[in-house]
Amino acid sequence: MTSILLVTSSPRGEASHSTRLATELADKLRTTQSAATLVKRDLVQDPLPHIEPDFASGIYTPADDRSEKQARLVAVSDAAVDEVLAADTIVIATGIINFSISSTLKSWLDHVARAGRTFRYTESGPEGLVKNKKVYLVVASGGVYSQGAAAVFDHAVPYLKTLLTFLGMSDIEVIRIEGVGMGAEAEQRALSSALNVVSELAMAA
Ligand SMILES: Cc1cc2nc3c(=O)[nH]c(=O)nc-3n(C[C@H](O)[C@H](O)[C@H](O)COP(=O)(O)O)c2cc1C
Repeated sequence: MTSILLVTSSPRGEASHSTRLATELADKLRTTQSAATLVKRDLVQDPLPHIEPDFASGIYTPADDRSEKQARLVAVSDAAVDEVLAADTIVIATGIINFSISSTLKSWLDHVARAGRTFRYTESGPEGLVKNKKVYLVVASGGVYSQGAAAVFDHAVPYLKTLLTFLGMSDIEVIRIEGVGMGAEAEQRALSSALNVVSELAMAA
């Protein structure tokens, strides 16, 4: 049975375009990949803590030697890593917040990027250990970053691609819902265009 992991992170609740489109994509993929299980990681309802000294030291301390606090913090990360490793398909949703990804998503990535679990260093350089995943990034933004004058500020998508590829996930599709802050018409256009892309990608999966 295939498994889909849906990660949502918008601070805008019901108004979120990225949550809506990513959920729609996950539901469609579930239908096309019959019997796929869907695991939801809602980073706003259940945010992961910011990483801190006991986390940063705990992940490099052998399990048996960890303090109670280190063990508790590393267990949060282990659960997030286990979910990623168990998934065949990962749908990640974020809005652009101050030219970057949402802070809840950053915190999740800080828990998922784990030496020895999701990547390792070899003599020939770093090696991603999260193999054979299909990743969909659903990114909503008030402005347009895929082209035009603001393309130089397109930090979020390249950052996400860099980190995910570093971890071994290089099969990445990006769905942008962009320009939603440029008036009602532009918002509707962005939504319907993204919905079409979602349908096409789900059919192609
Ligand atoms: C606090 C905040 C900061 C934002 N910063 C940016 C930004 O830097 N660039 C941009 O294009 N849009 C920005 N936006 C607009 C959001 O990207 C837009 O509302 C998008 O739809 C958010 O994703 P969501 O619909 O999934 O919540 C910001 C929105 C909020 C609430």
